[in-house]
Amino acid sequence: MEIIYHGHSCVQLKNGSHSLIIDPFLSGNPLAVTRPETIEVQHVLLTHGHLDHTLDAVSIARKNNATIVATFELATYMSWQGVNTHAMNIGGKTSLGYAEVEMVQAFHSSSIFLEEERRIIYMGMPGGFVIKWDGKTILHAGDTGLFSDMQLIGRRHSIDLAFLPIGDNFTMGPSDAVTAAEWLQAKSVVPLHFNTFPAIQQDGERFVAMLKEKGIGGHALQPGQSISI
Ligand code: NI
Ligand code: MN
Repeated sequence: MEIIYHGHSCVQLKNGSHSLIIDPFLSGNPLAVTRPETIEVQHVLLTHGHLDHTLDAVSIARKNNATIVATFELATYMSWQGVNTHAMNIGGKTSLGYAEVEMVQAFHSSSIFLEEERRIIYMGMPGGFVIKWDGKTILHAGDTGLFSDMQLIGRRHSIDLAFLPIGDNFTMGPSDAVTAAEWLQAKSVVPLHFNTFPAIQQDGERFVAMLKEKGIGGHALQPGQSISI
């Protein structure tokens, strides 16, 4: 399976003729090297409503006739933009046909800002996704702080690769993310949600070195880079 990092929290998984993208934020990310028009996927998974995770979801879904998978409130909101959606919620599993997806909790917020009306619409719970595909288990933690039930997620799933935020300020920072990786018993980690904005500057390579000290693998990918697992 090919794992492509598109910058910020956006990752794409590809296996044969199937592909899904998580948290597409390309057109608004100065560090992104991929244009949203070039993305070819069957599903768009959204961890929560914030714009740095959802900006290109509707355009990608529309162009590909892809289905947006998100928590009930966010999926309903997205369905009003005229795209296919699949609603789920924390603890629920579903099949995408080619992969199994479970939504797990994240400690964060989830909302959409209507700037012109100066109104904030809350979008239910934020989440993360455990994806089982082709014998591999991948976790995308979404935006989250450290929480002790990561140990429970680690006990229940044998995680080959975890995508964890390390930016600090809005999510956990590098040292909490190392603890998260230990609690999740992740074999390998790719850091997310850093360097995109001034408030979340971090050293990805230093984070990978911190993981290595704990015997955990890691890859600090640059936007546009991919790995195979
Ligand atoms: Ni967020
Ligand atoms: Mn975010």
